[in-house]
Amino acid sequence: MIKMQLSQKQTGTIRAHAASRKLCVRVRAADARTKGLTDPAVKLVNGAVTEGPDLSVEVNGLKLPNPFVIGSGPPGTNYQVMKKAFDEGWGGVICKTLSLDSSKVVNVTPRYAKLLDSKGEVFGWENFELISDRPFETMLAELKRLKEEYPDRVLIASIMEEYSREAWQEIIGRCEEVGVDAFEINFSCPHGLPERKMGMAMGQDCDVLGEVCGWINAAASVPVWAKMTPNITDITQPALVAAQQGCEGIAAINTIRSVMGINLSTLRPEPCVEGYSTPGGYSYRAVKPIALEKVMSISRLLQQQGFRDAGVSLSGIGGVETGGDAAEFILLGCDTVQVCTGVMVHGYPMVQHLCGGLQAFMSQHGFACIPEFRGAALPYFTTHGDLVVRQKAALAQRKAGKVGLASDTAWTGDGFVAEAESMVSNRG
Ligand SMILES: Cc1cc2nc3c(=O)[nH]c(=O)nc-3n(C[C@H](O)[C@H](O)[C@H](O)COP(=O)(O)O)c2cc1C
Repeated sequence: MIKMQLSQKQTGTIRAHAASRKLCVRVRAADARTKGLTDPAVKLVNGAVTEGPDLSVEVNGLKLPNPFVIGSGPPGTNYQVMKKAFDEGWGGVICKTLSLDSSKVVNVTPRYAKLLDSKGEVFGWENFELISDRPFETMLAELKRLKEEYPDRVLIASIMEEYSREAWQEIIGRCEEVGVDAFEINFSCPHGLPERKMGMAMGQDCDVLGEVCGWINAAASVPVWAKMTPNITDITQPALVAAQQGCEGIAAINTIRSVMGINLSTLRPEPCVEGYSTPGGYSYRAVKPIALEKVMSISRLLQQQGFRDAGVSLSGIGGVETGGDAAEFILLGCDTVQVCTGVMVHGYPMVQHLCGGLQAFMSQHGFACIPEFRGAALPYFTTHGDLVVRQKAALAQRKAGKVGLASDTAWTGDGFVAEAESMVSNRG
């Protein structure tokens, strides 16, 4: 009962209506749990830190005061929330995915489900939310207003359309008219939209993806990032196609197709809508190791194929909630780091903690700016076969460097004195 009230009303309202002190105590405990950010918060002015290591980044010619970008989803659904993101200091905002005809977008509720760890903290999050259900014209007007009020901040339009060249050209032209700085193409939503051959359905088919990226890049005059789905055997294949077709950046990952669970009382799947469910997309802390692997694979491929040197950027997404998480993505070569579910759990001010945590990591290692460590971990991935070779060589070297003789058979006449000396422990 209390849980339900918490999710439906503001804390203040609950406090006002609380009949007992016990309820107030439980409300505060819930607040503390959701605010469990461990990084120190730093002051941000227009998104920039005022002291310590420099967090600013430049990506595809866009200047961001810090690398933290709101990932497409609920935290970028309307003017009010995107304004909040800029005011709290996010380096950039990617709006909720837009399409030309929002009347085809019909959401259901509930559409989220959480996986909690043993301490009751959120560990994984499933959603089967669709793209924006708000009229395209309304969203355009709000994006325009945001760009007018925050001309120096980076605003990226996430877009998705059906397999139609005209539709892609129209959505790109109309978004550019209101001044967006770049596009992120949603080739990756794993639920609902693939039923209309959109989102992940396009991102999994390299032929269609290549053709659509060609249309998009012929129409767009601002940078285009292609957002990849992890729901594919080899994520590097569509990433390569997108880069070959002229996309300026790759973003990864979108959510992982999932079933959150089966309710053992009702025997029905969750989230449950009128007794039925459908697979959704999994995000938050639990997906970070999977996201890191996908990002590492894309980063290595882009580097090997010369796309990194040619300026193709990389935006890392998946389970980020600390500055250390972000540092890991940057160490794999990311230019920016996106956060979606983290904002739904911790709120917009979390960016001040993310910046504080990232600065703490940088200070610990003596890094003055982000390019000093971007991609630094990437050369240390190799094949398992190579690990075996390296370990054999290291063992042989350690053996060779060992002092003393392995057995009495090893004593020699000419080297006798040196051999005896090598086994003395108190040689000054
Ligand atoms: C409720 C919800 C809605 C989302 N909607 C979109 C969307 O409209 N477009 C999109 O590209 N990604 C969408 N995503 C995916 C996120 O942008 C992100 O790729 C994914 O959740 C992994 O990052 P995270 O762990 O920081 O959330 C959504 C995610 C969630 C949780």
